[in-house]
Amino acid sequence: MTWELVLWLLALGALLLLLVQLLRFLRADGDLALLWAEWQGRRPEWELTDMVVWVTGASSGIGEELAYQLSKLGVSLVLSARRVHELERVKRKCLENGNLKGKDILILPLDLTDRSSHEGATKAVLQEFGKIDILVNNGGRSQRSLIMDTNFDVFKELIELNYLGTVSLTKCVLPHMIERKQGKIVIVNSLAGIVSVPLSGGYCASKHALRGFFNCLRSELTKYPGIIISNIYPGPVYSNIVKNALAEEVTKTVVHAGDQSYKMATSRCVRLMLIAMANDLKEVWIAEQPFLLVAYLWQYMPTLAIWITNKLGKKRINNFQSGKDADSSYFKIWKTKHE
Ligand SMILES: NC(=O)c1ccc[n+]([C@@H]2O[C@H](COP(=O)([O-])OP(=O)(O)OC[C@H]3O[C@@H](n4cnc5c(N)ncnc54)[C@H](OP(=O)(O)O)[C@@H]3O)[C@@H](O)[C@H]2O)c1
Repeated sequence: MTWELVLWLLALGALLLLLVQLLRFLRADGDLALLWAEWQGRRPEWELTDMVVWVTGASSGIGEELAYQLSKLGVSLVLSARRVHELERVKRKCLENGNLKGKDILILPLDLTDRSSHEGATKAVLQEFGKIDILVNNGGRSQRSLIMDTNFDVFKELIELNYLGTVSLTKCVLPHMIERKQGKIVIVNSLAGIVSVPLSGGYCASKHALRGFFNCLRSELTKYPGIIISNIYPGPVYSNIVKNALAEEVTKTVVHAGDQSYKMATSRCVRLMLIAMANDLKEVWIAEQPFLLVAYLWQYMPTLAIWITNKLGKKRINNFQSGKDADSSYFKIWKTKHE
């Protein structure tokens, strides 16, 4: 075999590899490190047992599903949110379908905006279970309204809840993790913490703030390698997030949430979140295409991403104003082309 032929074969091999990666990316519903961890990494069933896990926003959507999947792993669970009757419903379902007993689940009512209550809540968890292994900062709300039509109080509320509430609770739990030199702080951020789109100015700002804060925190905790800060960025996931989103006034929510059924299944998003936790992943993107691609563009090619967002943003606003889910049409177009 001549050198020339070897080089040709190598080039062909590299081209094939690139093609396979491209095809994998088109079908991906998470960043490539996460999907690698799903394939080759540690399983949540091995890694997350016997842990005390505190989930905020556990009364609905992603937090509720987290409670169900965690209850099958044999952890001790702390379920927090404002609506106690919803938390009780979630606890009942965990006991029916999971591997836990009543004493393994603590319902702990918590309003993330009431920061003066966070210290007491942390003490209550430590009193009940003696430790906190994982804090999942999941509680939060979104927004659907144009910046110019939105009252300033809405921006304040989103920062109070999504950003300052999360920071405050984390600051209460961290001293305990530092003392033990171990623990996981999980932040349920959003692709809106990377990408900026119309109708969600206050929400995007609160999630961008979380990204900055927790990346700084990680860099300040390097002498505690056993404390893992995990930023998780889901794209559209099936839940009540749009129904509960703030609109122009702080007392107003969205009138027409539109059809949410096109979104990623909550169970799939949560499974990937558990894989991220089991593998100590620090930056985790969970989204179907084309949302994942858009996140990669915002991260690596911002000029092109801004141009595309400006073009597609008009459609997003039109969709929402005509009673559809803001992002549904891009997803449907993508699905028809790629299935
Ligand atoms: N679904 C998506 O497409 C998506 C995408 C990216 C990121 N996320 C993020 O995922 C997280 C969970 O959202 P979700 O989709 O599951 O929405 P969801 O179904 O509306 O659930 C939101 C949860 O947050 C809790 N919450 C709201 N205000 C609170 C407050 N003041 N204090 C304490 N808890 C509060 C709610 O409980 P109570 O009302 O009982 O307090 C509820 O349990 C949020 O941080 C959201 O930003 C969601």
